Amino acid sequence: MESQSAHQQLIELVRQAKRIVALTGAGVSAESGIPTFRDAMDGHWSKYKPEQLATPQAFEADPARVSRWYDERRLAALGCEPNPGHYALAELERIKRAQGGSVTILTQNVDQLHQRAGSQEVIELHGSIIRWRCTRTGETQDHVEREPLAQDYPIKSPNGGLWRPDVVWFGETLPTRALASADLACQKMDLYLAIGTSGVVYPATGFIQFALDRDIPSVEINPQETPISEAFFARVREASGVYLPALVKALL
Ligand code: OAD
Repeated sequence: MESQSAHQQLIELVRQAKRIVALTGAGVSAESGIPTFRDAMDGHWSKYKPEQLATPQAFEADPARVSRWYDERRLAALGCEPNPGHYALAELERIKRAQGGSVTILTQNVDQLHQRAGSQEVIELHGSIIRWRCTRTGETQDHVEREPLAQDYPIKSPNGGLWRPDVVWFGETLPTRALASADLACQKMDLYLAIGTSGVVYPATGFIQFALDRDIPSVEINPQETPISEAFFARVREASGVYLPALVKALL
């Protein structure tokens, strides 16, 4: 937001909204110390090839390498704390709920920091790195222990399968229930926020199109321009951990 009046306009937009949907991405967790994917300097995909770590083929070819990398990321996430941006979204949800409304977070993040900050309506579009799944039975287990899941990877499950992170890899379909819940939330929303996401991975582009088709106001909160910035009604070029607490404070 360039000017004070534009900032004021945005506060009014959020104040008036009853049912808010917020799509969040890695940028929201950046201020907690978790690297994003596409940052040129320290993004995961600037150091590693996604096809060697984040595809079913990569897991099949080298399950030890993939499991170790994800377990390291699980431990790193557990060692991080939610930042003021996460807490502000949880506070916004409390405010809207008290007024009979809602804030639904559709997150592409797998770190569970929104839930740890107190957000109640969180839809995990890309699964969770804290949850692991047996490749044979589909059983899942949460792992909040702050030590490696194994000495030796890959991790064998008792019934002959392997444990893999319960995340969505490139080439896999998004969880049906999460998508259906996201769709339901979008049907009811009167304000769409996209926070800390480059918007390049499906279904991020679908959500903004949904908002555009129905004339629902949309706001992008991201210090950088993204390939889909132009589609938004308003753009805020600030870090989410700085802007969101200020926004919520202005609502009180
Ligand atoms: P990206 O790394 O693509 O984008 C992160 C965005 O966050 C960028 O647009 C940054 O400008 C922005 N950003 C950085 N710091 C920020 C801050 N403090 N406040 C607000 N924004 C900030 O991450 P995602 O959009 O989440 O999928 O990526 C989407 C998916 O692509 C991920 O879920 C992952 C990845 O490959 C899989 O692994 C399947």
